[in-house]
Amino acid sequence: MLRLAIYPGSFDPPTLGHIDVVERASRLFDELVVAVGVNSSKNPFLTVEQRIEALQACTKHLPNVRVDQFKGLLVNYTLEQGARAIVRGLRATADFEYEFQMAMVNRRLCDEVETVFLMTKWEHSYLSSSIVREVAMLGGDYSEMVNPEVAPIIASVIASRS
Ligand code: PNS
Repeated sequence: MLRLAIYPGSFDPPTLGHIDVVERASRLFDELVVAVGVNSSKNPFLTVEQRIEALQACTKHLPNVRVDQFKGLLVNYTLEQGARAIVRGLRATADFEYEFQMAMVNRRLCDEVETVFLMTKWEHSYLSSSIVREVAMLGGDYSEMVNPEVAPIIASVIASRS
């Protein structure tokens, strides 16, 4: 049986931590779908298309990884894709409560889908998309927080806003 997993997130923007989780999850599963959650009520920094472009550029060296987007419930999307596992990265204890709640809700909605947690690398443990957005919007250097493929996409958004 093909072991397929979904790695969902907002990825606004994808950080080094996200790509590290993608790389490690791609070694555990036969196929990994990195799924950008489309939330129309949020005011995003990068468009969904820019996030997909960034994720595709950062994962092009991983033949068993593809990038997609989803709307609605994650468990429904997971089942539609034929997957039974959701991958999430954990940075520190601060992530645990939110991740625990999300995993429990998803299990309540669908008992067939398991959430698998991967610990982020120590050197990326301080990183988050919101930190990158804040540094970028305040004119700071974010180049060591994201993959080289992502930096120009962020730069173009900053330039278009100024
Ligand atoms: O990177 P994020 O913002 O922590 O990702 C959150 C995401 C997109 C995985 C989460 O909001 C999600 O699964 N949204 C889809 C709606 C859903 O299924 N909600 C029930 C589980 S909380």
